[in-house]
Amino acid sequence: MTNLKGKNLISITDYTKEDYLTVLDLAEKFEKNPNQPILNDKVVGSLFFEPSTRTRLSFETAANRLGARVIGFSNPSATSLQKGESLHDTIKMVSSYTDIIVMRHHKDGASRYASEVSPVPLINAGDGANQHPTQCMLDLYSIRKTQGTLDNLKIAMVGDLKYGRTVHSLVQAMSNFNAEFHFVSPESLAMPENVKNFATNSGLKYYEYDKLEDVVPFADIIYMTRIQKERFPDQLEYEKVKNAYIMTAATLKGCKDNMKVLHPLPRVNEIAMDVDKTPYAYYFQQAQNGMYVRQALIASILGYADKVK
Ligand code: CP
Repeated sequence: MTNLKGKNLISITDYTKEDYLTVLDLAEKFEKNPNQPILNDKVVGSLFFEPSTRTRLSFETAANRLGARVIGFSNPSATSLQKGESLHDTIKMVSSYTDIIVMRHHKDGASRYASEVSPVPLINAGDGANQHPTQCMLDLYSIRKTQGTLDNLKIAMVGDLKYGRTVHSLVQAMSNFNAEFHFVSPESLAMPENVKNFATNSGLKYYEYDKLEDVVPFADIIYMTRIQKERFPDQLEYEKVKNAYIMTAATLKGCKDNMKVLHPLPRVNEIAMDVDKTPYAYYFQQAQNGMYVRQALIASILGYADKVK
């Protein structure tokens, strides 16, 4: 068990394999016993400069279940940013009111910058197309829970691999577990070279495809992603690829019995609703797991891991 007290979580590579396993083990305890008010003298700052449903609400629920209070915003247009206040000054202020900050921002690197300004620990809840490390932690939790292990798995990632921050973080994390990666995307949304190099430098193999059907027979996990309209500089490019992959129940014919479909959500049309009824769909449980993982992160970073039952 590692000690995460005071440690920012900005990129998944800020934490080690042992750190991931510490968080996952603690999250298992929260899944069994979610209401543990061990942080009733703490205040969590929840700063969402970009829209969110799952990440914000699961973080805030996690804080509530830990007995902490939450301040913050989900609509930055109702704050003094509208008057021209900088991110620097916003973080300076909020860190003087709180014990830990959770922040989502539309700019790559904004969370790293904020963590350098903040005297209290900061958790990145997604920065632009860069990183989403707490999503990655809950993805690891969901993979281990459904497969019984994180080791030696065949992980397929499908859709927007270029702008998809969740898949960037997941490749980096799974590189600790001897994964084999299968990347399915239109050419224009291929996995970035730096992420592929990360896998190669970790001694791992990756393969690239343009058809979802090619990975169905052997994948242990199929990680679907949304084609993210909001990240495209040119909307005509979005129109060309927006329906590139639509998984239906029929698509999954011939998959492994224990294969699970993950998706960070929200979905648009890339997973048809008939997949929800199959034993392969795991995306709603995956989102629920996020609450336990975020409880584990908040408790660990605030130095209360040893109080968790
Ligand atoms: N998975 C995820 O980040 O969802 P939200 O954008 O709703 O937080």
